[in-house]
Amino acid sequence: MPGREALAFDMYGTLVDPIRIWTRLEQYVPDQALRIAEVWRQKQLEYSFRLTAMERYEDFEQLTRKSLDYALATAGRELTAEQKDALMAQYNDLERFPDVEPGLSRLQQLGHAMVVFSNGSPRMLDALMDAAGLRPYFDGFVSVDEVQAFKPSPKTYGRVAERLGRPIGEIRLISSNPFDDIGAESAGMQATWVDRSGGLFDTLRPPPQMVVGSLIELADVLEKDGQA
Ligand code: 2OP
Repeated sequence: MPGREALAFDMYGTLVDPIRIWTRLEQYVPDQALRIAEVWRQKQLEYSFRLTAMERYEDFEQLTRKSLDYALATAGRELTAEQKDALMAQYNDLERFPDVEPGLSRLQQLGHAMVVFSNGSPRMLDALMDAAGLRPYFDGFVSVDEVQAFKPSPKTYGRVAERLGRPIGEIRLISSNPFDDIGAESAGMQATWVDRSGGLFDTLRPPPQMVVGSLIELADVLEKDGQA
């Protein structure tokens, strides 16, 4: 629809829940599953920031595997290569948040161009788009792999604008990850914080103007904007 912003949706933490992988970890490390899942996610992101600061690149699948090794080591646990392969496979089948399907259905009716935009490797995102039933709602995905750098490098947000063929200011990032929202605004993109953490935003920068608690609320807000 003419004049409507294009929406770029973050994947991990916004559409699917990486921490819920603890329910798959339980079979191997029952008493430490949630803690290991949290360390795993933190280390995964830390590695992505550090590589980008060094202007080096390894894809998200490699980082996710290496950060799993770290998380298990911090808990003093060992898993076999097969067990870790099984966990990596399940990382491509993460649970959608409950508001995602109803929210995306509403947003699709509003007529916005919508893509997924993620640190995920193309192989990971391709698998997840199908496993999480996301493909019908999007005009595909943009992986940061295309610019060999991770969010919040401005190169990544610039790549989304290139791929969508629109000025970066006419694209709205939808993300629950504050570092991502701050990175998008720093690059000149609009941003919406999907607050899935009970109000805890980074203290580095203030939250974006638009804050919602779910994708359903996002559809309500954009519909009202659209009527304005
Ligand atoms: C994503 O890019 C930030 O990991 C999150 O999907």
